[in-house]
Amino acid sequence: MLITKTIDDFKNARKDLNGTIGFVPTMGALHKGHLNLIQRAKEENDHVIVSIFVNPTQFLEGEDLEKYPKKEVADKEICKLAGVDILFMPTSDAMYEGDELKIIAPKIRGYVLDGHNRPGHFDGMLQIVMKLLNLTNADMAYFGKKDAQQLSLISQMVKNYFLKTVIVPCDIVRDIDGLALSSRNIYLTKEERTNALSIPSALQKASQMIIAGERNTENIKNSMIDILNKNVNNIDYVEIVNRDFKNINEIEIKNTIILVAAKVGQTRLIDNLWV
Ligand code: PAJ
Repeated sequence: MLITKTIDDFKNARKDLNGTIGFVPTMGALHKGHLNLIQRAKEENDHVIVSIFVNPTQFLEGEDLEKYPKKEVADKEICKLAGVDILFMPTSDAMYEGDELKIIAPKIRGYVLDGHNRPGHFDGMLQIVMKLLNLTNADMAYFGKKDAQQLSLISQMVKNYFLKTVIVPCDIVRDIDGLALSSRNIYLTKEERTNALSIPSALQKASQMIIAGERNTENIKNSMIDILNKNVNNIDYVEIVNRDFKNINEIEIKNTIILVAAKVGQTRLIDNLWV
């Protein structure tokens, strides 16, 4: 596995790869959710590129940019064992020159839910993903459904800018207790982690209601909020949207996403269910 830090080194390493390329962009502190993307990329392509870059432009003032978990040694080992060909770990200076062209997320999909709670977050996320897709020139890029809105916006960017990379959505990977894996889970104390389980429980409740025939989204949201309120101090949102991220009154099977964002202690967690 080649580890590259500068743009030139990365381009040189990339030039030597022939065949199809699967790409997995990450911010590091890798867990089984990331590993699942890497393994899928490995199965479906001749070569795999992984990037680890904690992208400053997608963090808002006061968010956890400075303390975002770093596990460089373990991350390298995980990538090596998974058969990654190039691990790209650039510095901020390598990726950004200062006053740059920006990408602005679209109004509805980009500025509701997480886009509303974290204004500008998706602009910065799209900016870095555009850079990484251009640099890697990958055939396929793998993203988790855990970040549903991110995935949807990236798919739209690829479509709107006629990029060649095929975006592959991958299922959410959960811990045995049901909590969706996230690099940020290490911030949780034992008690907070127990409280955080109300997030997957609320989604599970929604799933059970839908299986039992419930289609009214208000009823489903209210039941979810009841479960969350018992354990979570701060709900950012509980929303039910279609795949275009527009609110819906009735569940549309195969076209609905149920999303939760909540703060448990100081840690903001997101999770969702694709119906
Ligand atoms: P990061 O949070 O490191 O996530 C990298 C990729 O792993 C994303 O596609 C995310 O959806 C996926 N992922 C994380 N947890 C997952 C889980 N439990 N199950 C399935 N997939 C999971 O998302 C980012 O980094 C950044 O915004 C990035 C796209 C790299 C741009 O900076």
